[in-house]
Amino acid sequence: MHLSGRRILLVIAGGIAAYKSLDLIRRLREKGATVRCVLTRGGAQFVTPLAVAALSEERVYDDLFSLTDDNGMSHIRLSREADLLVVAPATADLMAKMAAGLADDLASTVLLASDKPILLAPSMNLLMWSHPATQANLATLKARGALQVGPGTGDLACGEVGDGRMADVADIVAAIERFFGLPGPLSGRKALVTSGPTHEPIDPVRFIANRSSGKQGHAIAQALQRLGAEVTLVSGPVTLPDPPGVTVVRVETAAQMLEATLSALPVELAVCAAAVADWRVAAPAVEKRKKVEGVPPPSLVLEANPDILATLAAAGERRPRLVVGFAAETERLIDHARAKLTRKGCDLIVANDVSPASGTFGGDANTVHLVTPDQVRSWPLMSKTAVAEQLALFLAERLGAESP
Ligand code: CTP
Repeated sequence: MHLSGRRILLVIAGGIAAYKSLDLIRRLREKGATVRCVLTRGGAQFVTPLAVAALSEERVYDDLFSLTDDNGMSHIRLSREADLLVVAPATADLMAKMAAGLADDLASTVLLASDKPILLAPSMNLLMWSHPATQANLATLKARGALQVGPGTGDLACGEVGDGRMADVADIVAAIERFFGLPGPLSGRKALVTSGPTHEPIDPVRFIANRSSGKQGHAIAQALQRLGAEVTLVSGPVTLPDPPGVTVVRVETAAQMLEATLSALPVELAVCAAAVADWRVAAPAVEKRKKVEGVPPPSLVLEANPDILATLAAAGERRPRLVVGFAAETERLIDHARAKLTRKGCDLIVANDVSPASGTFGGDANTVHLVTPDQVRSWPLMSKTAVAEQLALFLAERLGAESP
């Protein structure tokens, strides 16, 4: 309940992401904040005043609200009685009004009649986002002190893919917590995460790879960052956007991944979620290998790749205090995970079933078992994001409350 006593005035403008604002209200209230909402006419096309009122347990202030009604609440008081104004979604239209100082509806009037800090969570189509007018408006608002969270990159409601997606609710909550100066349980700690597959070249155009999407590793990096950690994510080739607030180092091969992870030391926590290729081609061809009529296909001579997890776990003085590995198995999950724990010298193995029937590779859900030398904890099927959030909390607890 660390947002207890904090008063947030949430302005919900007319964008498809308005539905996420309902979850934002819920999450902020779970943390103890009081949330009052102003709903624009456009916002009310996407979420109903009733839903907003039910979740906030407050009256909703929309354009039907009369400044002369019996509770005497004015646009000035709405802002005065808040510690922070959050605009989510912040549409191109509302930001333009704010930049120009227009006050032609309740939301724009409240925002103009306020000297309180404002956090914007922009949300719009990518062309609207990248338009010089929007960027100029945002620059104006930021020059006046507005704070910004997001937008992220990804699938947009309009069917296009790119920048403009409203920040995830958890990121908006984390930005609000940072605004209030609330340290997360991992504040001041450094963490390293490996993610994705590695590509091992056969020749300049061909490579050996695996089916890892990087979803789980990227979600873990994001979850650790949300708890306040300073995170370096060393990622093999993936199609995922960089998690906001995380330092991302992109690599291709296992050898490059090892080099990048060692350069990120010292860290207190290392989570190796990458599906590192165990082998690489001993002598990749410098030129593209050509097929020649009548000549049998070439054989590949492989050699072992360095084991990044084992190297980190055996790094002596530079060893992270907590070294976590993943075990991707298709059978005898726990037995293999236990053996891996010992063989690699790490503190914890997160074992997951990657048999084709499980749908884990490339999918959005995961069933994991946390294997330590003395215990096995099995978690139910969860989204990869939920696994990441739970794991980050678990690791934060393991690292203990003492200051770094
Ligand atoms: N790992 C690593 N470097 C490697 C291989 C694996 O850091 N060269 C890490 C992975 O990131 C993961 C853990 O080791 O955290 C387990 O990987 P996995 O491929 O399941 O284990 P293997 O050692 O390859 O064991 P097996 O051959 O039994 O699958």
